Amino acid sequence: EKGTYPHFMLKEIDEQPLVMRKIIQAYQDGNGNLKIEDEITKAMLDADRLYIVACGTSYHAGLVGKQLIEKMAGIPVEVHLASEFGYNMPLLSAKPLFIFISQSGETADSRAVLIKVKEMGYKALTITNVPGSTLSREADFTLLLHAGPEIAVASTKAYTAQIAVLAILAFVTGTSKGASVNINLVKELGIIANAMETLCDAKEEFEQIAAEYLPAAINCFFIGRSIDHSVGLEGALKLKEISYIQAEGFAGGELKHGTIALIEKQTPVIALATQAGVNGSIRANVKEVATRGASTCIISMKGLETEGDRFVLPAVHELLTPLISVIPLQLIAYYAALHRGCDVDKPRNLAKSVTVE
Ligand code: F6R
Repeated sequence: EKGTYPHFMLKEIDEQPLVMRKIIQAYQDGNGNLKIEDEITKAMLDADRLYIVACGTSYHAGLVGKQLIEKMAGIPVEVHLASEFGYNMPLLSAKPLFIFISQSGETADSRAVLIKVKEMGYKALTITNVPGSTLSREADFTLLLHAGPEIAVASTKAYTAQIAVLAILAFVTGTSKGASVNINLVKELGIIANAMETLCDAKEEFEQIAAEYLPAAINCFFIGRSIDHSVGLEGALKLKEISYIQAEGFAGGELKHGTIALIEKQTPVIALATQAGVNGSIRANVKEVATRGASTCIISMKGLETEGDRFVLPAVHELLTPLISVIPLQLIAYYAALHRGCDVDKPRNLAKSVTVE
């Protein structure tokens, strides 16, 4: 039920702090330490390479998951689009483990890959929001998102839940491996939940950004470097699927290799700047497009901000920034769609769960 909310999407965006807290609780043992089932940790430790397979928003969560797993657990990770995997099957390592990420657990493209790799004799873990879903039943192991039903076609709380569960998987695996995982994840996820609340309370700011940058836009670009690049891809998908504004996310460094040709007077460019190591270079990219007339909107993070930034996110651990930097992008997409009179919860041509290949 929507309750007092005009749309499920807005309700689900607002539920993100609560979902974060539910996940922390669900994955804690009696001593307050993060835990996952031993057999899952064992499968992770046995693998020499992980293959994440997913579609759409879940694929974007997988891109963030790769960074988290490689940095915290030290296992190489490849991320693949399910729909491409069948005919572009990568050369597999000696001991692969497959990780399927699917909110619904019913996506046909992902299921086709799952069936194939099971036939080949490999083990699979499904990360899903729906207990008992097909992808969960057909895999060897399941991790649940605890996000509650997601009704809006545009995925929001499932994306952040997927990233949080991937972070926990990475952390627990790294810790059991004896790797020095230099993060107190329970504490950092608690900080994330509070930061999410701050952002959900700042809706007018994001409505204002949508009103300022997007009413007449025919296109919109999202740029970022490193982990911000992955979040930009998700921001672009959110905007295009519900507002029908053509949107593209790409790496800041790629601008000069082609996309900068599209920048005209007043082309909206939304830049994420949450990573200390690339703060200078992403800001240089913003200058390049601003010089060519783009309307630039920088969303940065406390500690890295510069005068003129349109919004400054609360400071969180630098590996976990996607969990909060996506919220402004979700809200900007929501308000852009609302202002254009679009059917926010049920965008044209789309289904919530894509059960055909
Ligand atoms: C976008 C969106 C889709 C899904 C994709 C995969 O907002 O919701 O891109 O992420 O169809 O769905 P699941 O995660 O159910 O496999």
